[in-house]
This record gives sequence, structure tokens and C-alpha cells, in this order.
Amino acid sequence: MSRTIVLMGAPGAGKGTQARLLQERLNLPQISTGDILRARAEAGDQLAEEIRALQAAGKLAPDDLVIRVVEERTARDDCQNGYVLDGFPRTLAQARMLEKLTAEQHKEIVAIAIDVPFEVLEKRTTGRRQCPVCGEIYNMYFRPPQSNETCDRDLGVRLVRRADDTIDKVRVRLETHQQQTQPLLDYYEETKRLHRVDGVRDTEAIYQDIERIISG
Ligand code: AP5
Ligand code: MG
Repeated sequence: MSRTIVLMGAPGAGKGTQARLLQERLNLPQISTGDILRARAEAGDQLAEEIRALQAAGKLAPDDLVIRVVEERTARDDCQNGYVLDGFPRTLAQARMLEKLTAEQHKEIVAIAIDVPFEVLEKRTTGRRQCPVCGEIYNMYFRPPQSNETCDRDLGVRLVRRADDTIDKVRVRLETHQQQTQPLLDYYEETKRLHRVDGVRDTEAIYQDIERIISG
């Protein structure tokens, strides 16, 4: 049976970094609800404006919207052999919907929590920069680009900072995570589908643990 990999972790824990590696190396599509919503927010309509405001405030988007996004994206052909959810589910309602969806898709859920302490998360988020072309994720404290604020792969392309990566927004996001998403760890733990990895190590060491869990 193919798998639905649920990558969990607080803002800045490294979900996106690891999901990108899984996509590159295991050909498992990365489905980041945050990225999909950010892309949707670029349109010029009312919904885009609402998403922009919610993300900028560090609040969650409505369940029905995010659920629709996941249903549509996971129905594509490239998801047949499994996929990685990065940032979904984040509420109990989303987790329940995922049970139903994966049952219909004949997939098994494997939840992996990347554990990173609170004090590290602030630097991870406020120091983050991303290439708008290839999506490569950098960090000015932990993984700086070779040349000041430009991408190592797309030479000369200026890295961008997310609107919700300022310290005040990060604190709201961490709080939202604590209240709404943290309880999901118990949910997957109780159903014996939760694996935990220490997220304060080299990216490669974390990846090796995740790959072992997936293939085990
Ligand atoms: P989303 O985009 O998912 O943001 P998030 O959950 O806050 O997580 P981040 O993307 O900030 O962190 P990450 O874990 O991906 O870390 P990364 O790999 O980049 O969601 C944004 C918003 O969208 C939400 O607030 C909400 O409004 C909305 N939304 C999204 N999903 C939703 C849902 N399901 N329901 C409702 N609303 C939803 O790494 C962070 C930094 O650390 C980088 O700089 C990286 O280089 C560095 N780093 C990574 N790993 C390491 C390492 N091992 N050592 C040192 N540095 C590292
Ligand atoms: Mg991310």
C-alpha cells in the first residue's frame, strides 16, 4: 500500500526543507498547503485578499478551503504512489478529513513530527530566505547563501523573505500551532502512527531518519 507522509512540526521546524529532499530523492510530491495558499494569494480577487490577510496575521485559513486544496492536489496522477503533506493537517477537522481521503485512495498514513525547541524556531523563521525561482530554502544564521542574499543555484536571483517571518508574526504562528496543531500529535500517537525525529541536527541526518521511517 502506498503512503501518505504527514510531516508535522512547528513553524520553522524544517518541514519544507525535508519535504523538498523527499521530492528530489524519492520522487514523492511535496504538497505544502502554505505554499499553495501563498501562490493562490497572488491572484487579484477577493479570496486572494482574504488568504493574504490570514497568512500575514499568522492565523489559519478556513478548514473547508484547505481541505479542498488537498483533495484537488492529491487527485493528480503524480500522487498515485504516495505523497508528502507539508503543513497539513493542522486541525482535528483536517485530520478527520484526511482519514477519509486516504481510505478512499487506499493509502496508509505515516505521521512524522520534527521536534525543534521553541527558542531555535525564532531564528529558523526570522532568518529564513527563499529563492523565488527554484524554491531553495536558506537561513541567514544556519544556512546562508554563498553570496549575500542571492541564490546559489539561480545565480543573481535575489532571495525573498516571507511576510509572516517577522518576529511578531512568528510568535502568533507559534501560539496558533501550540493551540490548534499540537493536539494532533496525541491523535497520531494514540493510533500508533506517530514517529518523532530530533530536528536540531544536520539536515542530512534528519533526512536519513525520515527515509528510514518511510521505508520501514
Ligand atoms: P506554512 O507555509 O506551512 O508555514 P509554517 O507551518 O509556519 O512552517 P514554515 O514554512 O514556516 O516552516 P517549515 O517547517 O517548512 O521550515 P523550513 O523547512 O522552511 O503555513 C503558512 C500559513 O499558511 C499558515 O500560518 C496559515 O495561515 C496557512 N496554512 C498553511 N497550511 C494550513 C492548513 N493546513 N490549515 C490552515 N491554514 C494553513 O525551515 C525553516 C528555516 O530553518 C529555513 O531557513 C531553513 O533553511 C532552516 N532549517 C531547516 N532545517 C534546518 C536544520 N536542520 N538546521 C538548521 N536550519 C534548518
Ligand atoms: Mg514550510
